[in-house]
Amino acid sequence: MSDCDCGLKTCMFCAPRANSGYYGSSDGSPHGGTPDWLLDELREEWGELFDPCPNDPNFDGLEMEWPLDVVCYVNPPYTRGHIQKWAEKCHLEYERGATIILLIPPYTCTAYFHDHILPFAEVRFLRGRLRFKGYSAKAANPSIICIYRGDD
Ligand SMILES: C[S@@+](CC[C@H](N)C(=O)[O-])C[C@H]1O[C@@H](n2cnc3c(N)ncnc32)[C@H](O)[C@@H]1O
Repeated sequence: MSDCDCGLKTCMFCAPRANSGYYGSSDGSPHGGTPDWLLDELREEWGELFDPCPNDPNFDGLEMEWPLDVVCYVNPPYTRGHIQKWAEKCHLEYERGATIILLIPPYTCTAYFHDHILPFAEVRFLRGRLRFKGYSAKAANPSIICIYRGDD
C-alpha cells in the first residue's frame, strides 16, 4: 500500500517515484512549500491569504475557526489520510462562510473528493507539475486548486 491518499499499490503518480516523495526529490522536508510564483498569482487574484497550515509545529489549523474576511490558502500535508482531513475542514469552514483555496493532487476518485470538494468547489487544473519549495525536482503528481467561495 502506498502511503499517499491514492490508496493504491501501483499509483500512477507516486509509485514510479516511490523513493522521491510526492513533492519531488527527497532532498527537502516532507512538507512541500508552495512555489513563490504560485503564491504571487493567487495573491494577485485574491489579495492577502491566511495560511491555516504554515510551517509552524505550534499552530493547529484544524482546531481553529478560519477567518471569513480574508481568503484562506491551504496546501496540506500529502501523506496518507491528511488530505482527507483538510478537505473535510475546508468543507466545514466553507459552510461557515469562508473562502478557501485548496491545493492538492487530483485524486478525483476518492470519497473525500466527491463528499467534500466536487459539489462545493470550482476545480482548476494546473498546467505542468509544480516544483515545490525546498525540492530540486518537480512533483510526482499534477496539482489542482479547489476554490470554495464562501459568499456563494
Ligand atoms: C505542504 S506544507 C505547506 C506549507 C506552507 N503552508 C506552504 O504552502 O508553503 C503543509 C504544512 O502543514 C503543516 N501542518 C500539518 N498539520 C497541521 C495542523 N494540524 N495545523 C497546522 N499546520 C499543520 C505541516 O507542518 C506543513 O508545514
